[in-house]
Amino acid sequence: MKVNFTETVLRDANQSLIATRLPFEKFQPILSKIDKAGYFSVECWGGATFDSCLRYLEEDPWERLRKIRKACPNTKLQMLLRGQNLLGYKHYPDDVVRLFVRKSVENGIDIIRIFDALNDIRNIEVAVDETLKSGAHAQGAICFTRSPIHSLGSFVNYAKAMEKLGVNSVCIKDMAGIMSPQEAYDLVKSLKENVKVPIVVHTHSTTGLGPMTLLKAVEAGADVIDTSISSFSGGTSQPPTETLAYALRQQGFEVGLNDKTVNQINDFFKGVRDEFFKSGSLNPVVMSTEPEALIYQIPGGMLSNLVAQLTAQHKLDRLEEVLEETPRVRADLGYPPLVTPMSQMVGVQATNNVLSGERYKNISNEIKSYIKGEYGKAPGEINKELMEKVLGGEKPMTCRYADLLEPGIEKAREYLGENAKSDEDVLSYIAFPAQAEAFFELREERATRTFAYSIKKIQ
Ligand code: CO
Repeated sequence: MKVNFTETVLRDANQSLIATRLPFEKFQPILSKIDKAGYFSVECWGGATFDSCLRYLEEDPWERLRKIRKACPNTKLQMLLRGQNLLGYKHYPDDVVRLFVRKSVENGIDIIRIFDALNDIRNIEVAVDETLKSGAHAQGAICFTRSPIHSLGSFVNYAKAMEKLGVNSVCIKDMAGIMSPQEAYDLVKSLKENVKVPIVVHTHSTTGLGPMTLLKAVEAGADVIDTSISSFSGGTSQPPTETLAYALRQQGFEVGLNDKTVNQINDFFKGVRDEFFKSGSLNPVVMSTEPEALIYQIPGGMLSNLVAQLTAQHKLDRLEEVLEETPRVRADLGYPPLVTPMSQMVGVQATNNVLSGERYKNISNEIKSYIKGEYGKAPGEINKELMEKVLGGEKPMTCRYADLLEPGIEKAREYLGENAKSDEDVLSYIAFPAQAEAFFELREERATRTFAYSIKKIQ
């Protein structure tokens, strides 16, 4: 039996350990080796990479993707997409979702992993449809969480519904690293019995369960696992590629990785890691094991956000209370999985509830929108009093929120005029308007400078 590996160092590991601050130039020299390592796919785009490129790295995210594509002609390139939210925090109209997906594939993406934070299938339908129409591999993801209303059966039903949409594979996305080895075994086994498409497992090492969870998932029949090259593995990142390959080979699985090349990739990233250690951008704490997440069910990224939020307000001494309030807020909201953007929304509300001294004295606009149904259907019942407080007797919407949105492409195109050089620019602007405009300006400046320089050289 063969187990396939998806390498995450360029996306999730980079995002989880160093807040997506890896510039293209830093990993460009190793791309030709990555292309020859025998990975099933390389996750290298989507998630926070797009935002980070525009906001911090002064890179055109599309250009970055094209360069990776050129350097890795033989490997499948993979991205993470938040369904109707694309790479942002709100829902976009369908014309935007379709063009974004089409352009992602045109610029080099082969596999799109698509999820919705609420596991509301209506929010992934359009992205899945357009991925398939573009000739790429659509991977539907289940956001794994634990709650009184989530069960093996509910996850299997969701997988079946995704299979009906035509997805090419189903991924179990355990963003908080809370899925235990036994839960992974049972869920993968059930999925293998109930859906025909390959099963992919994604977890994080945050709580220390990660490597065991992947091992049991493979024993139960998982076809693909997400791992990161060891120098960028562990803690809030994925379990290590080499270690899993070693253990699985002993159990008789065919791994398909070229060990020598994988070692070279690791040697390369050791150097990168050390640089980030030295500069302070990689805090060793994120590489440690945090079993508390099992109790609070809070993903690693969310915990560090809460700490940052409270520190900024000089209220770090209230952390314990906020951690206890978080699961209560989640229960009031009908147990949404704590994944972007829900993890941020629930965290902010829990902090408000504690610091204001009265629960729901201040309700954030995002939570109001959620209660109105703008993010999709809540997995369970929303607390009646809270609902009354926000809706004042009105009913939450039952339609898909995107159905109420005006098309967005033409409007953005008109607004940008000459500033947009391509459809990709228009999409960057729609996704992150201020960052994209600042980036277009910078690009213009750079071009003028280069032009002036070459004129000078000619003279
Ligand atoms: Co992840």
